[in-house]
Amino acid sequence: MTTAVDDKAVREEFIRFIEEQKKKPGPLMPIMQKAQSLFGALTIEVQELISEQLGIPMSDVYGVATFYSQFALEPKGEHIISVCMGTACYVRNAEKVLDRLSEELGVSPGGTTPDRKFTLEPTRCLGCCGLAPVIMIDDQVFGRLTPSDVPEVLAKFK
Ligand code: FES
Repeated sequence: MTTAVDDKAVREEFIRFIEEQKKKPGPLMPIMQKAQSLFGALTIEVQELISEQLGIPMSDVYGVATFYSQFALEPKGEHIISVCMGTACYVRNAEKVLDRLSEELGVSPGGTTPDRKFTLEPTRCLGCCGLAPVIMIDDQVFGRLTPSDVPEVLAKFK
């Protein structure tokens, strides 16, 4: 779920939070975590707001936003597709499943479809290697997949 930075109520709530954090040491991380949870992503507009409110350069905000993997610079899709690239899945053609997903969705791995419906994320072992190759869409696991299964699996979420 993402909220635009120009949503007045959310923006005000965020500015109030910044004011409180400013009184404490090391305010940047909690402020960025709050921004991520309120807005869904640290877009350039959100980073500008933080820079403005804290009176620090954009490059400092951007540096932190890109350093930590917990922060997303773009809003994620409604459904997150995690494609396991762990060893067991990799040797059972996970890469071909990933290629097919990429082709069907028209996005590169790591990307989000323009309609913000899906985000495609290669990941480490998902802990169900017996079902390799495995993908997870939100909290549902799909195992023993072949590239030709991909359209049918995606259809369940369209
Ligand atoms: S390697 Fe893919 S689930 Fe473990």
